[in-house]
Amino acid sequence: MRIDGKTRLYGIIGNPVSHSFSPKMQSEAFFESGINAVYLPFPVEEKALPHLLTFFDITKIHGFNVTVPYKEKILPFLDHLSTKAERLGSVNTVVKTDDGWIGHSTDGTGFIRSLEEKNFQFKGARVLILGAGGSAKAIAHALADVEISSLGIINRTANKADALAKDLILHKPDLNIQVNPRIPAPGYELLINCTSIGMIDDLCPISEDFIKASSFIVDIIYNPPLTPLLRQAQKHQIPSENGLDMLLYQGVEAFEIWTGQKAPVEAMKKSLLESLSKVFFDK
Ligand code: ATR
Repeated sequence: MRIDGKTRLYGIIGNPVSHSFSPKMQSEAFFESGINAVYLPFPVEEKALPHLLTFFDITKIHGFNVTVPYKEKILPFLDHLSTKAERLGSVNTVVKTDDGWIGHSTDGTGFIRSLEEKNFQFKGARVLILGAGGSAKAIAHALADVEISSLGIINRTANKADALAKDLILHKPDLNIQVNPRIPAPGYELLINCTSIGMIDDLCPISEDFIKASSFIVDIIYNPPLTPLLRQAQKHQIPSENGLDMLLYQGVEAFEIWTGQKAPVEAMKKSLLESLSKVFFDK
């Protein structure tokens, strides 16, 4: 990497950000694409948030990602939102334009693109989502946009699942939604775990009858790479994926928003795999 007086700056804000794989991945993507830019971590305290965009204006930051806990809190400070970000009330990618700072959300579209790359057919699919938090919401809205035929939502806190269903119906009145279905009939083309169950607790988020009724299973957790849900999928010989490619394509879409160029997907995936293996090596 060469840094000179023309190097452009990008970054990620959050608290904490030290665990993020994005600084390495995006900096390597710029290098691979011959773009003179670097991407830095910015650990931001909440009291600094109102002043952050002034600081980024002065320092000529061209764009940044937003992670926990600022995906919603950044909204009042932005000049415009994409349609998707506005609908979700959440932003993970911000770009500086002549019209000011524009917020986007690549959380849901990154998920869709990660499966489209594997030729998954969303149109007409019956899908079951576990969870009703921020990730589930982003993915559910993105699924509604690719014309799935039905969506089941299972969540520990039933009123959060109800609220998500109501929100989706406002946007797609024809979408067939079931909240907390008791039985898996008539089965699902896709089951997605959007809860944090399996990340640190070695638990499976759903009973075996729902797992066996699914033809494809995605756990959006990528660390650990093989969760109890994915182990169950393997046991029943159901094709499955962890969340690494969703993370990858969220980054790919951010890169494309910032640069207007196609992202170097293979180099970015290699970077993520290196970061992940380092996490295990350092344990
Ligand atoms: P994210 O932004 O990653 O989606 P989140 O908004 O905090 O994170 O959502 C976490 C999801 O995991 C929620 O659906 C949460 O269920 P509740 O709405 O009932 O809180 C779910 N979740 C987390 N821990 C759980 C547990 N131990 N059992 C069941 N569900 C759990």
